[in-house]
Amino acid sequence: MLIHSASQLLTIAGAPQRGADLGRLGIIPNGAVLIEGETIAAVGTSEELIQKYPHESSLDVNGRVVMPGLVDPHTHAIWAGDRSAEFEMRLQGKTYMEIMAAGGGIASTVRATRAAPLKVLLDETRQRLRRMFSYGTTTAEVKTGYGLHSAAELRILLALLELDAEGPLEIAATFLGAHAVAPEYLGKTDEYVDLICNTMLPLVQQWWSNHAPYHTLPFVDVFCEKGVFDLAQSRRILEEARRLNFPLKIHADEFENIGGAALAAELGAVSADHLVTTSAEDIRTLAHSNTVAVALPCTPFGLAETHYTPAREILAEGGLLAIASDLNPGTAWCESMQFAIALACRYLHLTPAQAIAAATINAAAAIGRSERIGSLEPGKQADVLILDIPDYRHLGYRFGTNLVQSVIKKGKFYPN
Ligand code: NIG
Ligand code: FE
Repeated sequence: MLIHSASQLLTIAGAPQRGADLGRLGIIPNGAVLIEGETIAAVGTSEELIQKYPHESSLDVNGRVVMPGLVDPHTHAIWAGDRSAEFEMRLQGKTYMEIMAAGGGIASTVRATRAAPLKVLLDETRQRLRRMFSYGTTTAEVKTGYGLHSAAELRILLALLELDAEGPLEIAATFLGAHAVAPEYLGKTDEYVDLICNTMLPLVQQWWSNHAPYHTLPFVDVFCEKGVFDLAQSRRILEEARRLNFPLKIHADEFENIGGAALAAELGAVSADHLVTTSAEDIRTLAHSNTVAVALPCTPFGLAETHYTPAREILAEGGLLAIASDLNPGTAWCESMQFAIALACRYLHLTPAQAIAAATINAAAAIGRSERIGSLEPGKQADVLILDIPDYRHLGYRFGTNLVQSVIKKGKFYPN
C-alpha cells in the first residue's frame, strides 16, 4: 500500500532526540510512505515513490499530514471504580495528598479494582484503550498498581496481556506494586517494601516467564514521594528489581523533591517521570544520563496546579525529554496525547515540533522501543497516522477535537 500526496510526511527519522536536537521532524513535503505487511518499506516524495512502485495499490491522502503513531509512555489506564467525587472535593479546596492520606485517592481505586470482576475490568479498560487509539496512540505503557497484593497485581498483569493480544493498541506493561502502601500495611511501609522485594518481584518474574515467555520483562516502577515511598524504600525496591533484570521506571518529584530523579539516573532507569519539583542539580544529573525524562503536563492541569516540569531546563542540559498522558482516575483522566501536546506547547514551552518528537521517537525510547516504533523509516513497524490538517503545527495549536482521520496499526487500516 502506497500512501501519497501528504502535504507533510513527518519521518522523525534517526535516534531519539537529545537537548537542542529535539524537534527534528524530517519533513518530506508532498510525501509518501510504502507499507508492506506490518512494516514500512520506503519513504520519499510522492513523485519518487509513485514512479518506483507504479503497480502498488495507492491511497491519495490529498494534502493531509502523515506521521508516526503517537506513543504514550506513562499511563495507569487499567482500573475500576469512580473518583468524580474527589474531583469535586479538590475544587472545594482539599489537596490530592490530603485526600490520599485520608484513605481516598489511590486506595479508593484499589478497593474498587480488587472487587471488580475481571470482565468489568477488561471492558472498562478496553473502552479507554479504544478512545486512546482513535486519538492516535498506537502504543501505550500501562501500569498495574491498583491491586497492591500479589494475586490482585497478577490479575491486572494478566488483563494487560490479554488486552495487548486483542489489539490494536499495543501495550508495554509495568509492575507498580509500589504505587501506594497496601491498605493491609498502613503504617508499616517497610514491611510492605519487604513484601514487594521478597515476594512480589520474584513472583512477577516467575509468573511472567510462564505467561509471556516471548515478551521482555515488564518495567518495575515506584511512586517515590514524601508520604508514599521515601528515597531509601524506593532504592530498595528498584535495586532488587534491577538484580532480577527488570527494566526500571520511577515516579519522581511529582509533589516534593526527595531525590527520585537522581536515583533513576544512578540506577540506569529507562525513564524518570513527573519531575515537577526536581532540583536544578538533579535535573542536570538526569539530563546527563541515558534515562528519559518524562513530563506529564495533563497532571498539573488535571489538578489545577500551576507548576509544570521544567522542560526547557532539561533540554538546555542536553536531556532526553518525552511526554505522556499519565491517564489515571485521580489526577489526569486524559486519553488524548493530542491534548498532552497542546499542554506541552503552552506550559512546557515546547514548539509543536518538539512536542511531537517528544510524543513519538522519544516516547518510544521511554519504553525501550525506539528501535521498532516512533518514526517512519524503512524496516520499522507500520504505525502511521493520517491527520485531517494541512500543517503539522495544527497539532498543539488546536485542542479539544480529534485531528486524526485514520490510524494504521501494523499496516492495518482503522478509519475514524
Ligand atoms: O501519576 N502519582 C501516582 N500515580 C498517579 C495518580 C494515581 C491515582 O491518583 O489514582 C499519578 O499522578
Ligand atoms: Fe503516574
